[in-house]
Amino acid sequence: MAVSLHTPLVDMLGCRFPIVQTAMGWVARPELVAASCNAGAFGFLAAASLRAEEVGPAIDRVRELTDRPFGVNFHMFQPGATQIVDTIIAAKVRAVSFGRGPDKAMIKRFRDAGIVCMPTVGALKHARKMVEIGVDAVTIQGGEGGGHTGSVPTTLLLPQVLDAVKVPVVAAGGFFDGRGLAAALAYGAAGVAMGTRFLMTRDCPVPEPTKQRYVGAGLDDIVLTTRLDGLQHRLIRNEVLADFESAGPFKLLVSAVANALRMKRLTGAKFGELVAAARGMQREGGLSFGQALMAANSPVLIERSMIQGRPAEGVMSTGLVAGILGDLPSCEELVSRMAEDAARQLGRLCGGT
Ligand SMILES: Cc1cc2nc3c(=O)[nH]c(=O)nc-3n(C[C@H](O)[C@H](O)[C@H](O)COP(=O)(O)O)c2cc1C
Repeated sequence: MAVSLHTPLVDMLGCRFPIVQTAMGWVARPELVAASCNAGAFGFLAAASLRAEEVGPAIDRVRELTDRPFGVNFHMFQPGATQIVDTIIAAKVRAVSFGRGPDKAMIKRFRDAGIVCMPTVGALKHARKMVEIGVDAVTIQGGEGGGHTGSVPTTLLLPQVLDAVKVPVVAAGGFFDGRGLAAALAYGAAGVAMGTRFLMTRDCPVPEPTKQRYVGAGLDDIVLTTRLDGLQHRLIRNEVLADFESAGPFKLLVSAVANALRMKRLTGAKFGELVAAARGMQREGGLSFGQALMAANSPVLIERSMIQGRPAEGVMSTGLVAGILGDLPSCEELVSRMAEDAARQLGRLCGGT
């Protein structure tokens, strides 16, 4: 029995399969976004790790590499956020993803420009809030997901949100193959979104020494910590993380200040903009100012692994799924294999062979 994977998400985003490549700071660069889209998935460009003036050229670069629609992810708290929003609207990309920053007026601005709004949420109350302010779809990220993450597992958060909202729901956190896609569709999701699995592809522009740390990591090598930036962050164990875990408060403060200064150089942000970003994170994450200051640790240390290819000197955000993956397929191999497997699994369940 032929089973179609044509869900409302596919129509909304203009992709071939209900598979989303999520935004990952320093990782979801134009090469990865284009490769994901060319393979039939829908890719999000990570603009949260770009300077405002780099966003337009990065969008142009994706358009040189693919004629497929794609999206852009941003944070309301990053320096130059207002300019980035204007750039995205002028470029008329297909979709935006974000955390909890934008308000109702901004969602309306995107939607009036024909841009699909698809935030990522880690808790039911945030999904409800986002739907209330008018988004088109939500991606739920279960606790096993990569980067900053909540504590409710995908298997609980997904049905909880599906029962509570009427917009399409995309499932993220721990997905990597066709069985997972079939299971998410069976729950009632409109598709899956994956970060770590797309990072672990040949098309991903992350340097090989860093990718090999992901390939070599087992489940025991992956930890959830608040020591790095004050928020729950899932990382691969390495030399830098061991330092953070053993450091006393003074050493933590010194490294937070050093990384805030480096972040200032990297982003070209003014001091006032960094303070505003820290305050925004304080509000969003319910953090103390000291914790918010630590927020600069993440982008600076992630850049060292993902751009400079020095995994022993930076940190590596990851989903738990890296602990069971050991290969680097191309996006084409990954997406076509997932789609075929999911269709086969669903066909079998529907009584086919
Ligand atoms: C290396 C890495 C960087 C990430 N950076 C961001 C980011 O900048 N913004 C964001 O909204 N989510 C970020 N995430 C979360 C992903 O977009 C996605 O929601 C998550 O990876 C899904 O879980 P999975 O890794 O199990 O597929 C990041 C994840 C990883 C692994």
